[in-house]
Amino acid sequence: MIKEGTLNLVFLGPPGAGKGTQAKMLAASYTLPQISTGDILRSAVKEQTPMGIKAKELMDTGALVSDEIVIGIVEERLVKPDCEKGFILDGFPRTIHQADELKKMLQVRGKTIDHVLSVEVDKEELLARITGRLTCRSCGAGFHTVFDPPKAADTCDGCGGKLYRRDDDKEEAMRKRLDVYEQQTAPLAAYYAEESLLRRINGSGSIDDIQRKLLTILGSEIE
Ligand code: AP5
Repeated sequence: MIKEGTLNLVFLGPPGAGKGTQAKMLAASYTLPQISTGDILRSAVKEQTPMGIKAKELMDTGALVSDEIVIGIVEERLVKPDCEKGFILDGFPRTIHQADELKKMLQVRGKTIDHVLSVEVDKEELLARITGRLTCRSCGAGFHTVFDPPKAADTCDGCGGKLYRRDDDKEEAMRKRLDVYEQQTAPLAAYYAEESLLRRINGSGSIDDIQRKLLTILGSEIE
């Protein structure tokens, strides 16, 4: 059953695991907002806001943006009315400090996380997914040259926007992102296991298969 009609989810997993892909699909199924700190930062970069300019340098090298910036982003976003029925966090938290701060910001609003969905994929597959990734410049939708190709080359199926390759998907930045994940984000699995919130999902297989696995895990949550 959905606790008091709400569902608060967190996606965990290395770069390229499919968090964004799956989070978007779940967001559509449950009519919940998908809150991707990566997407929010990329739109700040596109709009060249002071935060975006600061973040771009770090993002392009594969490093994390400061806790202070991303915690502020999430805190602002979670108070919006569309989060009343729940939310799907994608890419946050990424450090223990971010997880502690998330817990506090939910606590003061009488909320908790219902599940932390950890999507697990081996390194070779991650590299294959990241190197073929295409992202829409207008709406941020994701595609893959082989695994999820757009109907027309370089064009988003959804909005017709131009598809591009993210700067942080270049080899050097990509390797750094994987290292940063191991060092700073992977420890969150133990953190959430301790709180009995962690649900591990084998992220190998087709996009639809993974979505079915997630819906099965969450199935008992649907009223
Ligand atoms: P962010 O945008 O969050 O990047 P990430 O976590 O590295 O994750 P990705 O977007 O690379 O992968 P994903 O798991 O969403 O995979 P996707 O669904 O796209 O963050 C970018 C940067 O922003 C960070 O490096 C950092 O600098 C900064 N940042 C963001 N949040 C931060 C935070 N909290 N703190 C500090 N800094 C932060 O799938 C990948 C590809 O595979 C796609 O092409 C897709 O089509 C394909 N695919 C997906 N599923 C499958 C499947 N099952 N089979 C085959 N192909 C698949």
